[in-house]
Amino acid sequence: MCGIVGIIGNEEAAPLIVEALKRLEYRGYDSAGIATLHDGQIDRRRAPGKLRNLGALLGKDPLPGVIGIGHTRWATHGAPTENNAHPHASDSVAVVHNGIIENFRELRDELTAKGHVFATETDTEVTVHLVTENLRRGMDPVAAAQAAVKRFDGAFALVIMFRGDEDLLIGTRRGSPLAVGYGDGEMYFGSDAFALAPFTNRVTYLEEGDLAVLRRSGATIFDVKDNRVERPIVLTQAGAALVDKGNHRHFMAKEIYEQPEVLGHTVHAYVNGVTESVALPKSSIDWSAVTKLTMVACGTSSIATNIAQYWFEQLAQLPSGTDIASEFRYRDTVLIPGGVSLFVSQSGETADTLAALKHARAAGQKIASVVNVAESSMARESDAVYPTHAGPEIGVASTKAFVCQLGVLASLAIAAGRARGVLPRDAEIRLTRRLLEMPRLIGEALKQEEIIASIAQEIAKARDVLFMGRGLSYPIAMEGALKLKEISYIHAEGYAAGELKHGPIALIDENVPVIVIAPHDALFEKTISNMQEVMARGGKVLLISDKRGHELAGDNVWMRIEIPECDPVFAPLVSAVPVQLLAYYTALAKGTDVDQPRNLAKSVTVE
Ligand code: AGP
Repeated sequence: MCGIVGIIGNEEAAPLIVEALKRLEYRGYDSAGIATLHDGQIDRRRAPGKLRNLGALLGKDPLPGVIGIGHTRWATHGAPTENNAHPHASDSVAVVHNGIIENFRELRDELTAKGHVFATETDTEVTVHLVTENLRRGMDPVAAAQAAVKRFDGAFALVIMFRGDEDLLIGTRRGSPLAVGYGDGEMYFGSDAFALAPFTNRVTYLEEGDLAVLRRSGATIFDVKDNRVERPIVLTQAGAALVDKGNHRHFMAKEIYEQPEVLGHTVHAYVNGVTESVALPKSSIDWSAVTKLTMVACGTSSIATNIAQYWFEQLAQLPSGTDIASEFRYRDTVLIPGGVSLFVSQSGETADTLAALKHARAAGQKIASVVNVAESSMARESDAVYPTHAGPEIGVASTKAFVCQLGVLASLAIAAGRARGVLPRDAEIRLTRRLLEMPRLIGEALKQEEIIASIAQEIAKARDVLFMGRGLSYPIAMEGALKLKEISYIHAEGYAAGELKHGPIALIDENVPVIVIAPHDALFEKTISNMQEVMARGGKVLLISDKRGHELAGDNVWMRIEIPECDPVFAPLVSAVPVQLLAYYTALAKGTDVDQPRNLAKSVTVE
């Protein structure tokens, strides 16, 4: 995940920015840079690799100035070179950016036609040239920034510095966090409060769509409709913990809200938005030659493989199987020559999954892993590592790591389909575009929070809850049940909707809420028939669907949650959000320990 810092200070800004960037190293990066204003001009120092390389550069060639912005970049498309490192700049502005500008290609074409010359392949650079264009058209800096942001699609945080004004920084966020810090005659921006801890513990967390104008005298904040708003200043304890909860009550809530940002980083690590294609990390695995894919994991990570199986079969026509790790090595799973065993794990340390990996290795399989901890045991024992970029996940209930696992697995399925010659180029273009839209759509799904919090008060009264879905929604039904069970302690089961009539429907009465996940896809009508079977027996149904789905089938349901419409193939990334929030708010209503539920560990390192 990239890190952002901005300082309007009274002393040399560069050393302070390096100090703040060091506190963002945990987010992962592979280049860094700083821009300051001095003698009325923008000046930059940028370096690939670790911050010490930037520090050495600054030592040789100091960067004066009391106002500046800094960035640690995790390279997505565009190698970790000096040229691709932030800040990006024109003669008028310098920008640091965290996230995705989805529609950067069309903006790039529009600005190129107006004579702007692009120096990099990054999406970030369009922000520089669009703000510059607005200034050239006579807008003041605030109007230039507000007008530019309205043109962007995607999930991002930005900080902009303007040539000639040493008392102005503008920052905005949509889907990626950004905090304002208040000092004594100094003001700051940071990706999180931890970065600002060396300067201040008085922080405002900007809300979705906010734009903040910082001057030494303080902050003026505008909401997404450009109305001036007041946002609370909180005193943070971020100095202690490496990762803080931000302005959330629990790590789980913070991590649910980080999903647009971290999925953006993860997808960008595999999808090149310029070529609209998937590029995998180099490895010894030749996906064109893989004969069978066997996926193995535990818990929520195992549910991610259930979803991925649909993708590998549908997009890559690759014979695929999935198994829970604690069963895998006690069965005589047929592991054929030329097969790949793929292990999915947030921690990369789960004992059952590690043991299964060793079993597959001994059977001659090529080993691949999807992990969130790049230096974990599983990564070290794999022939190919496909990292998620969710950042540290602290809540025991896995949320952002799960969605990032789906981002990686979808990218892998697309790459495998192309390698096997069964996925046409136009399909790859369509799918990569849809995947790049998912961070924004997750942000849309998060807007249902208030409704979900209210529904959770009813769910909290239940003793048993059933979830059901078909196709790609069936694993989400299982994930919803697992989330509810593990943090609210309410018994819940997830079923294939078509299975209910083969037994579980006997459980239905007015005391058993049934949660139906049914985006308007090819299986929608069938799922709704199953839903009506439940309602005919007095069952209370909570329907999770998109607008179209609710119009067609939402009339007599007990309650409803709307999800944004999206390409059905990636619907699980969006429908995961309501089931996560439902579990979270039900647990709050039950008063359980959301981040450390009873009997559970974040990483189960025993078999
Ligand atoms: C998920 O919410 C649970 N905490 C648990 O099922 C978890 O997914 C499982 O233990 C696997 O952990 P891993 O992804 O670190 O291997």
